[in-house]
Amino acid sequence: MRKLLIGLLFLICLNDYAQNTLISGMDKLKWEKIMPGVWKASFGTSGLNPLAYSNPPKKESITELSDAPFPFTKESTFSQLTPERASIRIPLGPFEKIYGLGLEFKGLNRRGGVYTLKVDHYGGVKGYTHAPVPFYVSSKGYGVLINTSKRVKIYVGVGNRKDSKRPDPIDRTTGKNWSAQPLSDAVEASIQGNGLELYVFTGNTTLEVIQRYNLFCGGGILPPKWGLGFWHRMHTKSSTDDVLQEISDFKKHNFPLDVLGLEPGWQSFAYPCSFDWDSTRFPNPEKFVKTLRNNGIKVNLWENPYVAPNSTMFKEIKPFTGSHTVWLGEVPDYTIPEAQKVLLNHHQKNHLDIGVSGYKFDEVDGYDTWLWPDHATFPSGNAAVEIRQIYGQMIQKILGDHLKKQNKRTYGLVRASYIGASSSPFVIYSDHYDHRDYVTALVNSSLSGLLWTPEIRSARSAEEWVRRFQTVCFSPLMQLNAWASGAKPWSFPEVTDIVRDNIKLRMDLLPYLYTAFYNYNQKGIPPFRAMILESGYNATETLIGGKLNGETNPYEEQKRMEVTDQYMMGSSILVAPVFTGETERKVVLPSGNWYDFYTGALVGNGETITIKTKLEQIPLFVKDGGIIPMLASKEGKGSDKPSLEVRHYGTKENIFQLYNDDGESFNYENGNFSLLELKVTKGKNGKLKGQSKIINNKNYSYGKVNWLWMSNQTKNGK
Ligand code: GAL
Repeated sequence: MRKLLIGLLFLICLNDYAQNTLISGMDKLKWEKIMPGVWKASFGTSGLNPLAYSNPPKKESITELSDAPFPFTKESTFSQLTPERASIRIPLGPFEKIYGLGLEFKGLNRRGGVYTLKVDHYGGVKGYTHAPVPFYVSSKGYGVLINTSKRVKIYVGVGNRKDSKRPDPIDRTTGKNWSAQPLSDAVEASIQGNGLELYVFTGNTTLEVIQRYNLFCGGGILPPKWGLGFWHRMHTKSSTDDVLQEISDFKKHNFPLDVLGLEPGWQSFAYPCSFDWDSTRFPNPEKFVKTLRNNGIKVNLWENPYVAPNSTMFKEIKPFTGSHTVWLGEVPDYTIPEAQKVLLNHHQKNHLDIGVSGYKFDEVDGYDTWLWPDHATFPSGNAAVEIRQIYGQMIQKILGDHLKKQNKRTYGLVRASYIGASSSPFVIYSDHYDHRDYVTALVNSSLSGLLWTPEIRSARSAEEWVRRFQTVCFSPLMQLNAWASGAKPWSFPEVTDIVRDNIKLRMDLLPYLYTAFYNYNQKGIPPFRAMILESGYNATETLIGGKLNGETNPYEEQKRMEVTDQYMMGSSILVAPVFTGETERKVVLPSGNWYDFYTGALVGNGETITIKTKLEQIPLFVKDGGIIPMLASKEGKGSDKPSLEVRHYGTKENIFQLYNDDGESFNYENGNFSLLELKVTKGKNGKLKGQSKIINNKNYSYGKVNWLWMSNQTKNGK
């Protein structure tokens, strides 16, 4: 009897204990299909909604993608609420690879890692980056978005629960396959909070999953044409005269200049910022911007969000600022619409009305030692941690929408981004300056709806100068950022011609690249993408620590690293940048024939080749049937209908729909754009023939089309 009573008492205590410590056990997530290939689940309550700072889904384009089934059994996804945290568990198969989670400078496969996704300067903790995005995509063809503005801590195939179907433990002394990280069957993630919202995206391929995520966030951005030209940033102390001198130097050296960026010193006060022109360096901003406009040059202004007491917007913004300062400047709470109005009114009057084209938003990321603390308070009542997480994305949305109302496209730079960035007209950059890491970041950004620029600042040798220039020419934003070094494109005279030729090649590729961005906009296909998104790509040679034998030993699979130093640009060009000191490099070619861009020669098919590098060229390869429309005339500027050189590679028939529009307004959204169909067919004699046909609106079509048959080296003027 006594034993029974003690037992009962024990059970009561246990029950009490459970009730006090757990709000709920593991609950099954309830998924609701909201669009073809998109499911949503939520539990508890969430805070600031990041998707509110993205564009609405492009439903029609989402519907055009294949409607693949829900990727898990509905009983296998879980949520849990404890007094401290909201967590989820999503199944993970033994051979799955996981990609994404935002901008990263190292590696591609996230399996086997633990990430604390926090908007921050890069470095230190895994997941602390300029654009951590709680969205991952699996090699099995689905993606998961954890839609929260709180910091997500995610265990990607790390950790083994007691109730998981885990293998038997292996004795470390005698077992060959012992691993410090036994294979786990789940992705588990949590936030400090009391609820979460989740989305699952499917598709027939990994690329389709990415497309669906991008389309869900409003599609990709179509930059104004000038944004794809050459950008140059001036030294921070530059004056009007310095800028005018720079422009004439660019002309003298025969370098294009499309956007000129002014760094902090254009303002009367910086760090914190006045956002007002400095009257000594820029006494007549209106005239200054006009002069540049007359030279075909746009002005881009650097700023950080922290308001200096001497700013002309200080008094008005003050009621909407948080408890703490940054560099003693006040921090606006832009989740409040009135605060947004103050910023927009000021910027409209002082910058946009006189023709400034856009901004470089700096310091919206971190460090903790600079920005506001987690316990800061803001007048909206929104949590400081959440405001920090979405600040960069929010500012992009506010400015982008504002200019859209004026039917103007913008393109700018930002140092922090988050969920839903694909439709934002901004490109991420960093102070981190490692060439290889920059290319890895370019590759990774395509897996999270981001654009990244491997901007060039300086170099220790002429060779490095060329190699970095080549990478930046094959990126979403071609920029020399000389705010500190004062470098010019001709700073290394021995390679000036090479640099100029590489920039010219990028400029000539504008028709092809602009169409790639249109496909980003309409179909969500990243214009610069990781090789894993390319069909026929399979790199088994890149496993660290031996040959991949995933079938018999799945432990090996999580060690697989993917290629991070080559990527796709547009529909058919493979870019393989070269790093200083390399005289040869490996290139992994997906299946199908691939051709050298410069010579049209066949280089391989579904294999890893080793190529000898040339300083003058960034290695570029084109897939069989690749049609590459390029500007034939100088830059196509000035003339209404520039003529085209259309290159064809290999032996396959193909069709390329070449997109064009006015290059700066949103009129394309109402059908005001041209499509030129470039079609290659094979005649009875096996000879290739090219035809071009306007299939939508001739207003923005091109002039003469000159076909170039790269793989048999004969010109045929039709
Ligand atoms: C840095 C930024 C640089 C440059 C500099 C100017 O924070 O990353 O690109 O703009 O500020 O002070």
